[in-house]
Amino acid sequence: MSDGTPLQGQRLVVVGAGSRTGRALARAASAAGAAVVLAGPDPRKLEWTAGELTGPSEVIALDLTDEHSIAGFARRAGRFDHLVSTAAMPANGPLKDLELADVQRAFAAKVIGPMLLAKHLAGQVSERGSFTFFSGVAAWRPAPARTVMATTNGALAFLVQALAVEIAPVRVNAVSPGIVDTGSWDGLGADKEAFLRGVAERNPARRVGSPEDLVKAVFYAIDNPYVTGTVLHVDGGGRLA
Ligand SMILES: NC(=O)c1ccc[n+]([C@@H]2O[C@H](COP(=O)([O-])OP(=O)(O)OC[C@H]3O[C@@H](n4cnc5c(N)ncnc54)[C@H](OP(=O)(O)O)[C@@H]3O)[C@@H](O)[C@H]2O)c1
Repeated sequence: MSDGTPLQGQRLVVVGAGSRTGRALARAASAAGAAVVLAGPDPRKLEWTAGELTGPSEVIALDLTDEHSIAGFARRAGRFDHLVSTAAMPANGPLKDLELADVQRAFAAKVIGPMLLAKHLAGQVSERGSFTFFSGVAAWRPAPARTVMATTNGALAFLVQALAVEIAPVRVNAVSPGIVDTGSWDGLGADKEAFLRGVAERNPARRVGSPEDLVKAVFYAIDNPYVTGTVLHVDGGGRLA
């Protein structure tokens, strides 16, 4: 496991494999010799990722807002070594404008969904296997109109501690990104470059993150058998600045 190719011959489930970090992770894991189960809500996006991989892969649709979908996914997925979920359905905006259904979806993707993944899939993880979920810097640096994001990411940080104890010896960790140029900031349009430059100037590491920074953290969480119940902050120190 620890010869620099932790994923060689392993079966890895990636929830969120249809885009951004999940897709980058699937590509990197495949190149490292893993068989990858590509999971997410949109099979067309998952097929697109599958077409980019060098090794074996399987596409299985999965909606973390629906326990039947999670249970069905568990039946189809079979045994595996590691599961990573990058899933998020953010509900940003001022408190006065929040819609309950949007808030519930945000909790489903980041908190309840991961809990149900553990419920339905923990028995299918191989010896020394793991779950890795994605939290985020907003929990440690709350901002106006980001209350749901702060709360879901914070809840996930505590969820991995609880799961690490309850489903031991399966290991459970979280990666907490800071501002990372995954494509999720493209909606800022012409303002994106100035936004990222400002973040980099404030961050102690003086840069913003790349998807590769996140992939490295996931590989570490998967590979290190003594790491569980932990949040790996991959944020350039952004939660401190
Ligand atoms: N990028 C940043 O600056 C940043 C900062 C802090 C935290 N994070 C966290 O890091 C993670 C990755 O972020 P990202 O920027 O790569 O991409 P992202 O756009 O946040 O990725 C979200 C993923 O969740 C999937 N998803 C949405 N609804 C789902 C559902 N109901 N069931 C299962 N999966 C669902 C999406 O599927 P589709 O592919 O089908 O859309 C997508 O792959 C996220 O959890 C995010 O909150 C990112």
